[in-house]
Amino acid sequence: MGSDEASSSSRWSAAFAGASIDSMQIYDSVVARLFTPWAHDLIGRLAPRPGHAALDVACGPGTVTHALADCLGPDGHVVATDISPAMLEIARSKSTGTDSAPIEWLESPATPLPLPDAAFDIVTCQQGLQFFPDKVGALAEIRRVLRPGGRAGVAVWTQVEDQLFGYLRDAIANVMSGETADRYLGPFLLTGEDAAEYARRAGFANIDMERVTLPAVLRGGAQELFDTLPASGVAADIAALHDNQRAQLLAETVRLAEGAQEGTSLSGSLTASVLILS
Ligand SMILES: C[S@@+](CC[C@H](N)C(=O)[O-])C[C@H]1O[C@@H](n2cnc3c(N)ncnc32)[C@H](O)[C@@H]1O
Repeated sequence: MGSDEASSSSRWSAAFAGASIDSMQIYDSVVARLFTPWAHDLIGRLAPRPGHAALDVACGPGTVTHALADCLGPDGHVVATDISPAMLEIARSKSTGTDSAPIEWLESPATPLPLPDAAFDIVTCQQGLQFFPDKVGALAEIRRVLRPGGRAGVAVWTQVEDQLFGYLRDAIANVMSGETADRYLGPFLLTGEDAAEYARRAGFANIDMERVTLPAVLRGGAQELFDTLPASGVAADIAALHDNQRAQLLAETVRLAEGAQEGTSLSGSLTASVLILS
């Protein structure tokens, strides 16, 4: 991992860890909708069974966690960890179904996990690995807590050019600076191949990787993309903008995304490398 990648990722991790509930709520209202089909895709690949125990690492607003709890049923058990108290508060506030597995929420970095060895049938980590300072260590922790025969599902975005979020990166470059745009890239810098290599170093023997593209629609258009910035690695830069600069940045995002606008919605896709590890 290059030093630029490391500093961009750690900036995002720090932004998540210190984010306010307000900025995370805005983020959640956009991102949870975009991430829900991805949660179902990842869980489907792991084929969980009722009564299984599952761990969701870097659970964020709980999109994968709640879907897992619904799959595992009342005899199952789900633990969810995240470094951000604001994310955990939002995740915890969402209601769970009466037929869902109980969920235990833990504030914790990805390494070390405050959990016993061989405790889980399934571990998920959706769009979290790219932010962890010690990626091999985090994957080794995931492996440590998996039962023999258990499986982990890890998803990381491919490059920003493949994503709806690319409009934001370009708008930041045009209105702010190329350097600020580079600092926006944290979620999109870890390749699937590198993630697979880290998993191998962490001791996983079976590593299946697939490049997956799913449609992404933002009903509120480019404004919704823009609304994710307060919970990004450039949150401090955005907060420091004057109102007219912020308006300029939004206008540039709208202009760049014009071709993807369908009525009031923005339509595009997201692409990730999805790894199944055992
Ligand atoms: C893009 S969000 C993904 C959240 C969730 N998995 C989902 O699919 O919606 C990334 C999450 O990683 C968490 N995170 C960042 N750095 C972390 C670290 N070092 N340890 C644990 N969690 C971390 C953030 O707080 C955030 O909730």
